[in-house]
Amino acid sequence: MQRETVEEFRKKRKEALSFIQGATDEKPNYLIILGTGLGKLADAIDIVDSVSYDDIPHFPVSTVESHAGRLLFGSLSGKKVVAMQGRFHYYEGYSMQEIAFPLRVLHALGTETLLVSNACGGMNPNFSRGEIMLINDHINMLGDNPLIGPNDDELGPRFPDMSDPYTERLRNVAEEVALEKSIKMHEGVYLALSGPTMETKAEYRFLRNIGADVVGMSTVPEVISAVHMGMDVLGISVITDECFPDALEPVDIEDVLEAAGEAEPKMTEVIIGVLEKL
Ligand code: HPA
Repeated sequence: MQRETVEEFRKKRKEALSFIQGATDEKPNYLIILGTGLGKLADAIDIVDSVSYDDIPHFPVSTVESHAGRLLFGSLSGKKVVAMQGRFHYYEGYSMQEIAFPLRVLHALGTETLLVSNACGGMNPNFSRGEIMLINDHINMLGDNPLIGPNDDELGPRFPDMSDPYTERLRNVAEEVALEKSIKMHEGVYLALSGPTMETKAEYRFLRNIGADVVGMSTVPEVISAVHMGMDVLGISVITDECFPDALEPVDIEDVLEAAGEAEPKMTEVIIGVLEKL
C-alpha cells in the first residue's frame, strides 16, 4: 500500500479546513462527537450553521443509517461548539487515518476539547442497560492505531503520552454535575474492538478479565487522535445492553438504538452541565 506523505495529508486537511471556513464564521472551542443512537443532543444546540460531510473535500461519508452525517456549528450552554452528527467506524471500512481526519481538521479550526459519546455493552455486573458511564481509561484492541505511519510533528509527538487520555479535570467536573443532578453515572474502562460482530460469551469473559467495564466499536481512534494533538477529552458511554457471559441474551441493533434513546437525556444533561461549568 502506498502511504500518503505528511505533505499530502496536510494539503487535504488544509482544503477541508478552507471549505469549512468558507461555510461558517463560527470558531468553536469544543468538539462533540455523538455516538450511535445519541444524535439528539444536537437538538439542544443553538445551531448557527450546518455543513454536510458530503460537501467537505476529503471528508469520509457516514454509511450508518442512524448517523446523520453533518457538522453542526452553534452554541450549547453558552459555549461555542461543533458537533459531528454521525461518526466513522473502523468496521465500516474506513482507515484509522480517515477516522482521525475530521478531528484534525476541526482542531485546526480551533477546538481544544473533545466531548465524545458512544453506545456500548456493559460487562461490569454492577452496570445495567440504560445507565451511563464516565470513561476513565481505555483499552485499544482494534488492532490498529490512527498514528501509525509517518508522524506529522505539526499535529503532535511521535510517541504520545497516554497516562491521562480522559482529562482528570473534566472527569471531576462531570462527576460534580452528575451528583448535583442526581444522575447515576458509573465510571470505568472502555474497550474498543473492531466489530461489526458482537462478542461471544468467551470474549466477554476474557475482556472483563483483562480489566474492561464496557465494550464498543468506536471512540478510541478519535481519543488517540485528540490526545496526540494535545486536546482535553471527556468521554461518556451509554450502556445499551448487558454482556454478562453466564446470562447472555441475543442483542440486535434495534435494542441498542432503543436503549441509547432512553439513556440519551442523562448523557445530554451531563454534557450540558459540564459545558456550563467550564
Ligand atoms: N458490543 C456489545 N454490545 C454493544 C456494543 C459492542 O460493541 N456496542 C453497543 N452494544
